[in-house]
Amino acid sequence: MTSFRFTRRGLAVSALALGAIGLTGSKLLKEPDDSLPKTRFPEGFRWGTATSAYQIEGATAVDGRGPSIWDTFARLPGKIRDGTNADIADDHFHLYKEDVALMKALGVKTYRFSIAWPRIFPEGRGTPNPKGLAFYQRLIDELLANDIEPYATLYHWDLPQALQDRGGWQSRDTAQAFADYTAHIVRGLGDKIGRFFTLNEIHAFVDLGYGKGIHAPGLTLAAAQLNQARHHAVLAHGLGVQAARANGRSGLKIGPAENITIALPDVETPQNIRAAEHATRELNAAYLTVMLEGRYTDAYLKEAGADAPRFTDADLKTISTRVDFVGINVYGPGAFVRERSDGSGYAQMKLPASYPHMKSPWLGFAPQALYWAPRMLQKLWAVKEIYITENGTSAADEPDEDGRIDDLDRVMFLRQYLDQLQRAINEGVPVRGYFLWSLLDNFEWADGYETRFGLHYVDYKTQKRTPKLSASFYKKLIERNALV
Ligand code: BGC
Repeated sequence: MTSFRFTRRGLAVSALALGAIGLTGSKLLKEPDDSLPKTRFPEGFRWGTATSAYQIEGATAVDGRGPSIWDTFARLPGKIRDGTNADIADDHFHLYKEDVALMKALGVKTYRFSIAWPRIFPEGRGTPNPKGLAFYQRLIDELLANDIEPYATLYHWDLPQALQDRGGWQSRDTAQAFADYTAHIVRGLGDKIGRFFTLNEIHAFVDLGYGKGIHAPGLTLAAAQLNQARHHAVLAHGLGVQAARANGRSGLKIGPAENITIALPDVETPQNIRAAEHATRELNAAYLTVMLEGRYTDAYLKEAGADAPRFTDADLKTISTRVDFVGINVYGPGAFVRERSDGSGYAQMKLPASYPHMKSPWLGFAPQALYWAPRMLQKLWAVKEIYITENGTSAADEPDEDGRIDDLDRVMFLRQYLDQLQRAINEGVPVRGYFLWSLLDNFEWADGYETRFGLHYVDYKTQKRTPKLSASFYKKLIERNALV
C-alpha cells in the first residue's frame, strides 16, 4: 500500500511505496553518464589554486630574508588566536616540489602565489638579496616543468618591517618603494612569468591592519590617517603597474587582486539590481572604483569631509593606469541591498542573526556573490578580462579514524559558488580563470592554524599533506571542465 506521511521536514514516502509506484530500481534511476553533453566551462578556462608567501613558506630567517610586519605582530601577546606564528607554517620553502606535485595531481594548469618582499629586499629597499629571488626562480622552474603557469602576486601583506619603521602605508614613500621592488621583480623573473597581480586586497590589509588593529601592524588610526593610508596603497598599485610595464618584457600583463565588497540585490528586480550596482560602486570607492575610474566618488568625498585623503590629479591618473585584467577575491556577501522606495539610491539590509555562515563567522554563505561580482565588474567598468583570484572556505576539518577528511561542507560551498560562476560565464561575463583558496591549510593570519582553508590537510607536526574530499571534487571538475 502506498503510504505518505508529513514530517517536520516535509513529505516522507516509504521506500515500499516508491517501489509500488515504480520509482525505484535501475529502470528509472540511471547512473550519472559521463558521456552525456554537459554545460561546460569555456575551452581553455584556467583552473588554479592560490596561496600566499607568509601563510605557507616558513623559513622566515633563511637565506637572508628580513623581518616582515607579520613576524613582529605575531609575537605580540594575544594577537594570534592560538599563540602561533608563521616561522615554519607549511615549510613550503623547503617542500615546494612536493606542493607542485600536489597541484599536478589535481590537474590545475595555473598557480597564484605571492612573492615575499622581505626575501627580496630585507630592508624594504636598497640592496637586493639574490638568494631571495633564487627561491622564486626554483619554484617557477618547477611549476613550468610541470606545465603549470605561474601567476605572481607582488604583495600579500608581508611588508618589510624596515618600511613599517618608516611609516609603512602611512608614508607615501612606501608606494614608491613598492614600485622599485616591482621593477626589480619583473626584471628578475619576468622572462618566466607573464602575469602579475599588484597588491592583494588593499581593502583588507589597510582596514584590518591600520584601522581595526587586528592584523599587522596592529594600528587603530583615525579616519583621516586611515584614508591617507588607503590612498597610498592604491597609489602603490598604479605606480607598480607603470613600473612593471617600464621594466618588464612586452606582453607582460598586470592587474589588481582586490576583495571587492559586493552588494547583492535581495530579489532580482531591475530596480534592486540598479541599487546593487550603485552600492557596489560606492562601497569600493577607495579601492576598485578609484583604480578603475581615476576619481573618488562625490559621495565618498562628501562623507569623508575633512578626513578625505590629500591627493593630486596626477595621483588619480597614476592610480587608474590601465590594467590588463582585474582579479577579485570573492567570499561572503558584502551587503544585501534594495532600491529605496523613493528611488534615491540603495538601502542596506541587516543580516538576520540566523543567516548561515561557514566555519569562519565572517564567511556568510552567498553563492550568488560569484555571479554578481564579475558581472558588476563588466557592467560598472567594462572589464574585459576577469580572474577570480580567490574563492574558497574554511571548514572544521578533522581526519576520521581512517585518516580521511570528508569536507562535505567545502564541497557543498564550491559546488554552489561555481554554479553561480558558470551562470555569469554563460551570460557572457569574461571570466578567464579561477584560483581556489587554498592549495593547503595554512597560517590563517590572526586565526593562526585553527582555521583551515586547504584542499589538502596539513598535519603541522609532521608536515604531511593529505588530499581532502574537496581535492577529489576539484580534480574531477577540472578533468571534465564541468560541474560534477
Ligand atoms: C586573503 C587570504 C586569506 C583568505 C581567507 C583572503 O582575504 O587574501 O590571505 O587567507 O582571505 O581568510
